[in-house]
Amino acid sequence: MAKKFIEDVPVKERLVFLRNDFNVPLGERREISDDSRIRAALPTLRFLVEHGARVVCSSHLGRPKGAADPACSLAPVSRRLAELLGQEVRFCPETVGARAEEAKAGLQPGQVLLLENLRFHAGETKNDPAFAAELARNVDVYVDDAFGSCHRAHASIDAITRCVPLAVAGFLLKKEIDFLSMASETPPDDYLVILGGAKVGDKLPLLKHLLTKADAILIGGAMAYTFLMAEGMEVGASRVEEEHLELCRDLRRRAAERGMRFILPSDHIAATKIEPNITVRIIRPGEGIPGEMMGLDIGPETVETFRGEIARAKLIFWNGPLGVFEVDTFAGGTMEVAAALAASQATTIIGGGDSLAAVEKAGVTGRISHVSTGGGAALEFLAGNKLPGIEALMES
Ligand code: 3PG
Repeated sequence: MAKKFIEDVPVKERLVFLRNDFNVPLGERREISDDSRIRAALPTLRFLVEHGARVVCSSHLGRPKGAADPACSLAPVSRRLAELLGQEVRFCPETVGARAEEAKAGLQPGQVLLLENLRFHAGETKNDPAFAAELARNVDVYVDDAFGSCHRAHASIDAITRCVPLAVAGFLLKKEIDFLSMASETPPDDYLVILGGAKVGDKLPLLKHLLTKADAILIGGAMAYTFLMAEGMEVGASRVEEEHLELCRDLRRRAAERGMRFILPSDHIAATKIEPNITVRIIRPGEGIPGEMMGLDIGPETVETFRGEIARAKLIFWNGPLGVFEVDTFAGGTMEVAAALAASQATTIIGGGDSLAAVEKAGVTGRISHVSTGGGAALEFLAGNKLPGIEALMES
């Protein structure tokens, strides 16, 4: 990204409009229950502060319907950001208009301001050029560090890049692109993909693309049961998307043609209900799952197979839990695989919200090479799709 990166442009004393993704989960009392996205924004913010920029941060939070909604205010984020940054973060209760302009004008070099939720204005999600021009008023440099929102052609992501003198990527966006490009476009040999989660339909575009890149793909989670049923296995009451059976067969055929290893679970932890203390049964290799039972985690033989694959890989991308990991009874497979990833010498990349929660639960987040902050954005990138936010920066 020549001239497209924050380090390539002058920021001293400039008014920098920084697009973050501070779309963080909030608890019942609107406390931030996971601040990873705020922490991930710190390198760019520190760089701008240290280099004397006048920093205007912006983000969406939740899905307000184009009008002010106190439940989606960014005020709690400004407080957490100030704590993490170790300096004052001014909060402007407006996003655009006279009050916002006044707040921007009052910034001294090294000071930070956070504007109110971009989605309090309908122009944001409509990618309205007039709203983008209001956001860009008096701005010298636009920095996009909101990887998690780059799949949205919204005003603060796309249209704004055509309203500012300079538009560049921040450290987080660059890091995401570097790691995810490795997984999506230019992987080394011995590239292993692990996919889990509930819905096979959501993962099909990703699977189709990664099938052309990976040396091995391991499937777990509820999505495995659609593949297993497609192979003729008795899956009992396990979750199955029958409309995708033929596509699953087709993917298996394509994997076989490529000579890659496409591995489904060989054994399972099954139960009649998803409850903490329910009696479970291990379904051994070759056995079917009885009618009333559901496969809810990978079994011990599958864990061993997955461990072996992890040990021989040089690059590993993992998306989606391998069982109902929120309930301890069915978390074993996901936790074992998380631990194996943490212990591996490979470059390890985790993408997608649930997988993030899974590595957090396993306590190994710090031992993963890259944990993507993007949910939908990461999945689209890895499916080989162009993201509007990245395209806009390239074209600006
Ligand atoms: C996310 O959490 O995936 C991003 O912040 C995008 O949010 P959205 O799905 O509401 O556009």
